[in-house]
Amino acid sequence: MPPWRLRWPALAAAAAAAAALLPAVRGAPTSPPSPTFGDWGVITYGNLQLSTSTLEGPALVLGSADLVDFDIGGGRPCHPTAPALAVAGAAHGRHGVLKGRAALGRHSALERTVGTPCADGGDASRGVTVGAPAGTGVDGWATRLAHIGASASLCRTPASGRVAVEDSVLKLFPAPASAGDACVDVFAVAHPLPRTLSSVQYYGTRRVVINYHFRSADWAGVDMATLNASRTLHSYCGGGRLRLRDTEVSGSVLAPGLRVDARSAEFRGRLAVESLTGQAVVRYEPYEGVALDGLAAEVCAV
Ligand SMILES: *[C@@H]1O[C@H](CO)[C@@H](O)[C@H](O)[C@H]1NC(C)=O
Repeated sequence: MPPWRLRWPALAAAAAAAAALLPAVRGAPTSPPSPTFGDWGVITYGNLQLSTSTLEGPALVLGSADLVDFDIGGGRPCHPTAPALAVAGAAHGRHGVLKGRAALGRHSALERTVGTPCADGGDASRGVTVGAPAGTGVDGWATRLAHIGASASLCRTPASGRVAVEDSVLKLFPAPASAGDACVDVFAVAHPLPRTLSSVQYYGTRRVVINYHFRSADWAGVDMATLNASRTLHSYCGGGRLRLRDTEVSGSVLAPGLRVDARSAEFRGRLAVESLTGQAVVRYEPYEGVALDGLAAEVCAV
């Protein structure tokens, strides 16, 4: 079977769908874009290259996508317009399932071995649209800028909690109870963690931001069970490469400069990274962590 292709049929509809997808980023013309994850489960500013992987939420790829043996979009009901996969560059997929529409850049091809169970039976496109002049109509540049700005201000936020590395455990001690339950515990991990790191232990119950102020990391078999995934944000300030092996990352990741290389890795949260390569499962859960543009006012007083 030849790869399946179709020209973009209705640009206006695509732009409307994209605007509906990214209300936080587009926002009112006078207010700066709100740097949230929007509805996306995964955002890569560069490329997505995965095999044997599951992305439960919708994925926005501003580079190109290469997908083999994959399952995307299964974490939410079929949506009539919002894509489960939006790729600005070229996308190639085989042996997979795409549960939702796809809006793909020029020269994309999904082979017949890709199932699209959400596509309308009467829609000859199988729910896949290829060849929009601007890729997907999504304003990727605004999204990227907003996240770079949010990441920079997150990384500048002074810590409110204390960090220690003891016995291969990264220990996160919250601000005193007198600071209240509603504030955010911000941690700054200044130095690279030991390769023998076995777990991250948080001794509080608040929303958490962890700023990692070093370049590149290698996490294998790290246990993060004490972090509440929906309330935790991992912020990699130094960029570089994150190599994950046999690790379940509890929390969302905001790291515009980070290239993630995953093997037997699971993420419980949203991802916004430079690139994601390898084999990964990304669960789609509500993000109930800090509002990125309001962090300064929410940090626990020390
Ligand atoms: C995690 O946080 C959510 C709120 O964001 C809360 O509903 C849930 O109970 C928390 N889970 C645990 C195990 O504390």
